[in-house]
Amino acid sequence: MSTVWEPGEHYAEPERLVASELTEDDLEIDRSLRPRQLVDYLGQSRVKENLGVLIEAARGRGEPLDHILLSGPPGLGKTTLAGVIANELGVSIKTTSGPAIERTGDLAAILTNLQERDVLFIDEIHRLNRAVEEILYPAMEDFAVDLVIGKGPAARSLRLELPHFTLVGATTRTGLLTGPLRDRFGMAFRLDYYTPSELADIVRRSASILGVEVSDEGAEEIARRSRGTPRLANRLLKRVRDYAQVRHDGTVTEDIAAEALAFFEVDHVGLDRMDVSILETLVHKFSGRPVGLGTLAAAVGEEPDTLEDVYEPYLLQLGFIARTPKGRQATPRAYEHLGVVRPEAAGQGGLF
Ligand SMILES: Nc1ncnc2c1ncn2[C@@H]1O[C@H](COP(=O)(O)OP(=O)(O)O)[C@@H](O)[C@H]1O
Ligand SMILES: [Mg+2]
Repeated sequence: MSTVWEPGEHYAEPERLVASELTEDDLEIDRSLRPRQLVDYLGQSRVKENLGVLIEAARGRGEPLDHILLSGPPGLGKTTLAGVIANELGVSIKTTSGPAIERTGDLAAILTNLQERDVLFIDEIHRLNRAVEEILYPAMEDFAVDLVIGKGPAARSLRLELPHFTLVGATTRTGLLTGPLRDRFGMAFRLDYYTPSELADIVRRSASILGVEVSDEGAEEIARRSRGTPRLANRLLKRVRDYAQVRHDGTVTEDIAAEALAFFEVDHVGLDRMDVSILETLVHKFSGRPVGLGTLAAAVGEEPDTLEDVYEPYLLQLGFIARTPKGRQATPRAYEHLGVVRPEAAGQGGLF
């Protein structure tokens, strides 16, 4: 197999690596590499342990699993885990998303078509509209939907019984959920960023599925730069594989991984061009003062939501930015990373 090297086409937009609409290609990688069983779902040991017990108990009693809420930044394995849960329960999964359900009738149709103990997965559940969300309350609590038939004085309310299903909801931030919806989940799990060693395991697993030869050090190098995120680890593995194949003999060693990732402008802690632009904007343009989210987003040319969901959590995790009441602020570590001397560092102390 040979790959045509077309730098202008694929690789000119390295910022796409971290935050982008998922392309067909990404979805294909996601699908082919997605674990189906709990044992293949690497990392997240606390979540896995808890879920394992709940699943076994539900299966043993022949009852549906409690409704489960999964939260965490994009690419950490929420959709994957929903599939694993259904698989482990031995039931079917129906998948939809908050924005896709426009009318109450759409949700009623989905609910009435479920089988006993099925999993209904609603991605981006914080984006359900109000009317639809209100249909979901009795569905979750009493396994029933209340439909209004007809209009005006002739209107009647009809209660339909539903099969006992399990709702698995996913959201990037639990804070975006309404209280009543959050309260109706039996369990909530927050997925955390993966450790480099967990990510290295994921890279090795993916490499063996894709038939890529990667040394342990090569896998670890990719893992260190994947900002704690399996989806990104898989994307980087694929880019590095292409690079290794075209520029070298195809084997991914530590040096080749480092060279390839530098080429794609992913730095040694996994920051890409947008992350660096955010830090530079805070440091230079706003001279280290706190900056509101909207202002910062406009300055770097990114959507505020993307900034908050994708970039900020990782920069917070690294301790490169702080959220203060007045806005986002670069920390001394950010200055260090950029190799810039802080103005306060010379004179009297500021916030830090
Ligand atoms: N725990 C895991 N172990 C192995 N691979 C994982 C794990 N979590 C996620 N992945 C990989 O990352 C990809 C993205 O995960 P996904 O479930 O789509 O994330 P999310 O829904 O949170 O955005 C999956 O296709 C899968 O290949
Ligand atoms: Mg998902």
